[in-house]
Amino acid sequence: MSDPSRRVSPVKAAWTALAVAAGMAAVGAAAFVGLGVYDVSATGPHLQPVHSLLEFALKRAVQRRAQAHPPPPDLLTRERVMQGAACFRDHCVTCHGAPGIAPAPFALGMQPVPSSLIEATRHWRRQDLYWITRNGIKMSGMPAWEYRLDDGELWSVVAFLDALPLMTPDQYRALVGTAQVPGAAQEGIAPGPSVGARPSTTTGMPRQHASIGMIGTGGANGPAGGAGAPGTATPDARSSGRRCDGRVEAPAPLTPALSTAELAQRAFRQHGCTACHAIPGVVGPDTSNGPRLSGLAGRDRIGGKAFPTEDGLAAWIRDPQAIDAHTAMPTLGISETQARLMARYLLAH
Ligand code: HEC
Ligand code: HEC
Repeated sequence: MSDPSRRVSPVKAAWTALAVAAGMAAVGAAAFVGLGVYDVSATGPHLQPVHSLLEFALKRAVQRRAQAHPPPPDLLTRERVMQGAACFRDHCVTCHGAPGIAPAPFALGMQPVPSSLIEATRHWRRQDLYWITRNGIKMSGMPAWEYRLDDGELWSVVAFLDALPLMTPDQYRALVGTAQVPGAAQEGIAPGPSVGARPSTTTGMPRQHASIGMIGTGGANGPAGGAGAPGTATPDARSSGRRCDGRVEAPAPLTPALSTAELAQRAFRQHGCTACHAIPGVVGPDTSNGPRLSGLAGRDRIGGKAFPTEDGLAAWIRDPQAIDAHTAMPTLGISETQARLMARYLLAH
């Protein structure tokens, strides 16, 4: 005779089974991590389903966040494409390659390998490309450019990517060749080959792209496809001496806006400070390449020489080697605004 009060209810049994399964999964995951089973090497790829899932997750995450950044209405001007070409040449081609140009050897050893961006506009909207370039992609090797390119430069890169599918290797070389000398007069540089559009491979593109024909049509700043007879235009040397020096005083505000402390924490991460210093409240590796940056306000000196005031700290952060020629801390090209932001944070923590 079974005692009804001791019979296990089906609901309770299901919960017990679920708890046991969850417990086993947790033990399995802990063993997987703790025993070092996961292959972290860049030669070992993800499993194909994992790769596909990550790609899908990336796409959805970018599309959702890029919504807040519609492209400026005058995006596809000749000026922007020229400036974007300079930025691409200076900051992107080593990893992503370009028409007729291979990535640098180190980039080919990366996992995931940086994709060719020639057809990036097939997969991404303009605001997506802006968002990716500005924010980077975590755990992939794609850097964030927010602290290295200003907002105009970021959109110029997008305009350039828009023109890329129609660009021949010769056109690319002509474009970046004349974009090489920052701000200088370009006399003496031979005009590149003709820059007419390459029509046959472009059918099926999802939408209108910046016409490469408009590049170098002497002053035409019109919208995509509006100017330039294919095959006759040459790059305009005078206006192509573009700078893309990546000196960002303070990045344009993000949505949602960050607090001052959060901005400082982001500045420490984006300027490489966390590679050498543990900093209170800032996520980073467990490092002791440099001293832990806490309690600086109560100290007599910082770096053995500078004084622990906002001025003194900011001066050290901007140019430690000017204060102590033998310090191992490198001069990192930090702007005054960013240095003061970090100095105030350090004095308060
Ligand atoms: C250190 C190498 C590196 C540099 C430099 C770099 N990237 Fe990337 N980039 C990557 C990697 C790795 C990925 C992720 C793999 C992928 O999807 O291409 C990526 C992804 C991208 C993507 C998404 C591509 C796609 O189809 O999924 C875009 C767009 C992009 N990068 C733009 C740029 C731009 C613009 C620059 C220059 C301002 C740049 N990258 C510089 C490594 C780099
Ligand atoms: C390559 C490693 C490295 C990087 C990157 C680096 N530092 Fe340093 N930093 C050091 C070393 C080493 C010292 C000790 C220097 C000395 O005393 O000569 C130091 C000292 C300091 C000090 C003085 C600390 C004390 O206890 O006296 C401050 C403040 C500081 N760094 C801030 C920063 C900030 C902010 C950044 C990022 C903008 C940064 N550091 C990036 C290596 C680094």
